[in-house]
Amino acid sequence: TKRLTLRDLQGLREQAEPIASLTAYDATQARLLDEAGVDVVLVGDSLGMVVLGHDTTIPVTVDDMIYHTRAVSRGLNRALLMADMPFMSYASIDQAVTTAARLMQEGGAQVVKLEGDAQQVAVVSALSHHGIPVCAHLGLRPQSIHKLGGYRVQGRAASEAEQMMKDAQALEEAGADILLLECVPSRLAVEIRSMARIPVIGIGAGVDCDGQILVLHDVLGMTARAPRFSHNFLAGHNSIQDALAAYVWSVKRREFPAPEHAFSS
Ligand code: KIV
Ligand code: NA
Repeated sequence: TKRLTLRDLQGLREQAEPIASLTAYDATQARLLDEAGVDVVLVGDSLGMVVLGHDTTIPVTVDDMIYHTRAVSRGLNRALLMADMPFMSYASIDQAVTTAARLMQEGGAQVVKLEGDAQQVAVVSALSHHGIPVCAHLGLRPQSIHKLGGYRVQGRAASEAEQMMKDAQALEEAGADILLLECVPSRLAVEIRSMARIPVIGIGAGVDCDGQILVLHDVLGMTARAPRFSHNFLAGHNSIQDALAAYVWSVKRREFPAPEHAFSS
């Protein structure tokens, strides 16, 4: 089969069919996600926590990302493969281009994701000019956890919400191909989604995004303390395959996220 492309994601957005996305870190996980019909597989820097046992994503290196991206890439037939640019691997334009090129050439990534506000406009623009597809991750940005002062909902204050809308617009204009919103009030996600012309994938951002993403370990009930916006899909199912199919089905039917997984303004 053929791998999905950005055009396919744009098509899903236009047809109002939610994009189902999950993280994976090895080839077997990737194969199971692909077989379950997951559209976008992300090799998240969450691997620092769920695979390597760190407290945050900050210690993750580019080499860690490449090692796992390459493994995931071997397990995929259909899903689009996105990989995170880890902490401090895109602090300058040159560094960002080098990191993105390595994730694509050595890892097999089709899209790179970076955490950023309007500060990252120059980086996104440079990557875009080099033909590198980019996802911009807004809202709760775990690589900035020490600056943000904790894992909290972002964009609740009116001024913060307004800034996030401006940032989203600036990043899209700079050439971002996908926006990812983490832990933002559902109403703000709706506003950003209606302003954007590119797919908006949410995690803790309510049901009215173009797609949903969760961390695999949360979906399979393996995390010690899962975030409120996630759901254990293995509960009530007899296999990992059934749990993953249930996740995809729930996202496609807009049954997940339910109101209890979302945040109010
Ligand atoms: O690293 C990760 O798993 C992520 C998702 C939570 C979006 O960035
Ligand atoms: Na990440």
